[in-house]
Amino acid sequence: KGPKAARRAYRGDAAVATYLIRHTPRLSGEVEVSTAKNAVLPILAAGLLTEDPLIIKEVPRITDVETLVSILRDCGAEVNRSGADLSVCALQPQSPQNEERMRKLRASILILGPILARTGSACVGLPGGCAIGQRPIDLHLKGLQALGAQVHPLGGMRQLSGRLTGARIYLDLPSVGATENAMLAALGADGCTTIENAACEPEIADLGAFLCACGADLRGAGTPTSEIEGGKALHGATYTILPDRIETATYLCACAACGGALTLRRAAPASCAGVIEALGQCGCRIRCGYDTIAIHRQGPLTACRAVTARPYPGFPTDAMPVLLAAQLGAQGKTSFTETIFENRFLYVQELQKLGAKLSQDGRTVRLQGAEPLHAARLHAGDLRGGAALVLGAMQAEGESTIFGVKHIQRGYDNLEAALQSAGARLKTVEIPIKV
Ligand code: UD1
Repeated sequence: KGPKAARRAYRGDAAVATYLIRHTPRLSGEVEVSTAKNAVLPILAAGLLTEDPLIIKEVPRITDVETLVSILRDCGAEVNRSGADLSVCALQPQSPQNEERMRKLRASILILGPILARTGSACVGLPGGCAIGQRPIDLHLKGLQALGAQVHPLGGMRQLSGRLTGARIYLDLPSVGATENAMLAALGADGCTTIENAACEPEIADLGAFLCACGADLRGAGTPTSEIEGGKALHGATYTILPDRIETATYLCACAACGGALTLRRAAPASCAGVIEALGQCGCRIRCGYDTIAIHRQGPLTACRAVTARPYPGFPTDAMPVLLAAQLGAQGKTSFTETIFENRFLYVQELQKLGAKLSQDGRTVRLQGAEPLHAARLHAGDLRGGAALVLGAMQAEGESTIFGVKHIQRGYDNLEAALQSAGARLKTVEIPIKV
């Protein structure tokens, strides 16, 4: 090939992060848990509700946060990072211009409620995010319509406008995002809004606590019914977000999978009750302090009772992939049923490449007993499924390769360093690709 072709190849070359993982016989040490991705995202979006500056402490360095920050900047907000903290100041928010960016992230739809509440109109692209189901936004729009917004489709965008008035919103499903959007929009509506059948996830309670710190008149966030007195100007605040319960579950399950002893610091044990109970059934010893969780697994694992993912306080759908992966070497049989996302089990066929004895029947995956696992080349297709592959590969003999690490980086602030510090035999290599 001539020099021209070589130059083209050089310009077009890029590299993707790939994990190389070898069998990890045990983990030991301490890991500090990050603040919760699923609370950081709505809280950053809520920054569009006030012209005062906000400071959010200890924000994880994950690509979902980076994407939302670039969307907020596109909306006219000034967002700056100073060490671990982010400041947000939205003097004159507007609808984002970049529709493409909205598609990178499911939580991008959370800017809709605040922009509408603040300016009386909003035009946004449809959100993307992990490919784990269809994930429509009908409940988000229904909630905003109940407050008086008119919705007009505009190609692939949705244009909303109207003066908002407090109302009763009944959510047909306790959707996390729709609850958050309704809460945020209701703050700009005149009068009182009641959200019924609201989602109860701890991240919603945290969003409520943040909004109250900004002067909102809001009760019941994190319970099935919340009440919001709208129309009050919010002021700035400095806020520390709660610990990430899914990251916590990931490290607990990693230790259960490999054996050893791990202490998690800056955790919120109460928000991880389902995972702690399941790992206890498997034979792990777990001790919880105020903000620590210590897990110890020495003997063989026993499969836990059947698990069904449900809205909080049920077992978290996001923690099921790592719990499943933790049990690939467990004695006995069990099953995992998903009720929230219809397409969440794509990672199961990747785990089968390691030799895992798994079979899928619709929304249930059955684990048929322990099988020795061997290394394989695996493709992460979504965030939590990707974390499950990491746990699977740590249990397999030989060296596994995991492609698609970018999906894992959406939600884990340096998973690799945390696991390495606990003794995991994992490293990242940059593999060149042509773009
Ligand atoms: C949030 C979390 C995600 C978690 C999920 C369920 C964030 C940023 N993401 O996602 O990690 O897995 O909660 O705990 O917090 N639905 C509709 N119409 C709608 C909205 C949702 O049919 O308008 C359906 C979804 O397709 C899904 C179910 O409701 O089947 C639950 O989704 P939802 O609770 O909204 O999840 P997210 O807010 O997208």
